[in-house]
Amino acid sequence: MTVDIIDFAEADRNYRDALVALHFSAWGGLDDLATLRRLRALGFPFAPYVGLYAREGDALLSAVIASHYPLTTPDGAETAVGIEMVMTRPDATRHGLAGALLREVHRRERSAGQRLSLLCTGRSNLAHELYLKLGYQDIFSPRASLRYIDRPRARPPPGIRVRRARGTDAPVLARVHRRANAGALGFTRRSPRSFRVRFLSGTSAIRHMIVAQRRGHVEGYATMEPHSTWIRAGEVIAPSPEIRAALMAAVERSSTGRWVAYGSDWFEEAAPAGSGEDSGPLPSYAVMMACPLVPGLRRRALYPWLRSEGRRFACQLLDMF
Ligand SMILES: CC(C)(COP(=O)(O)OP(=O)(O)OC[C@H]1O[C@@H](n2cnc3c(N)ncnc32)[C@H](O)[C@@H]1OP(=O)(O)O)[C@@H](O)C(=O)NCCC(=O)NCCS
Repeated sequence: MTVDIIDFAEADRNYRDALVALHFSAWGGLDDLATLRRLRALGFPFAPYVGLYAREGDALLSAVIASHYPLTTPDGAETAVGIEMVMTRPDATRHGLAGALLREVHRRERSAGQRLSLLCTGRSNLAHELYLKLGYQDIFSPRASLRYIDRPRARPPPGIRVRRARGTDAPVLARVHRRANAGALGFTRRSPRSFRVRFLSGTSAIRHMIVAQRRGHVEGYATMEPHSTWIRAGEVIAPSPEIRAALMAAVERSSTGRWVAYGSDWFEEAAPAGSGEDSGPLPSYAVMMACPLVPGLRRRALYPWLRSEGRRFACQLLDMF
């Protein structure tokens, strides 16, 4: 196998058919490729090379996409590499291609000064084994509470209006998010630009997002991802009991006769495990992993390090890239 490594721009320019074929056969569709192109045009914080591709002749066999995300660690504010769309064509697996691309991403990012590489996968995904071999460690797994809504129970408190979020809310959403995560570690700082790009790229969770406002000021929000038999309210920022009650009432109103998965500790507090109201927080299939890129972090156990001094690790649905 004679393989070389090219970046996204070259793949998109010179190997367009092979790029489409790779995404289709390795990843199961083409929406992600379209999203990748759209996000790139919108100025999403991809790495300068966007992604790396293993090329053999005219074929693309494997890919890895990389971005940069703000992260708060015990050492302060920094950025971390976020890896996604790791894929190898089914007829080219077990030749070390995904591993080789990830090592090359690590090499480039280390020389650009990055200290940590992050990615999200499933605990039982075959790739979990690959990531462990490359030095990744599990650092976070979101929890969710499930509740069947036979009739809405939460009462909307007076004086709070809940409405659909819109693109112009981006700056205030960033402020609300940042304030709610002050003092925490992890994904504590999101820029208005990050919210704006998500609105423009139109993912389902953000298209159905709701905000709660009091006296004209937005104080909290919840993402809503409707499926045919359930709804995921995956990211909720509700800094006060009234805002939490208002958001919860709105989620329940649109979920009658369906299951709701509350993917946020803000709602877990509202219905403690054993209250008879929901399943209690469940462990999830999804896991975030981190790989140290520099010697200073290499010997550390990252899970306890990222929770140092008992500080909360902030990681919401929109951070599970
Ligand atoms: C997971 C995936 C990216 C692996 O790509 P790959 O190019 O075959 O990966 P590598 O050859 O570098 O694999 C290295 C290691 O991963 C693990 N691994 C990969 N495929 C495996 C399989 N089918 N069974 C068991 N282990 C596997 C092994 O530990 C392997 O090491 P080994 O071959 O020395 O035993 C590829 O199977 C794929 O595209 N899957 C579908 C998309 C996906 O799930 N991506 C991950 C999203 S988080």
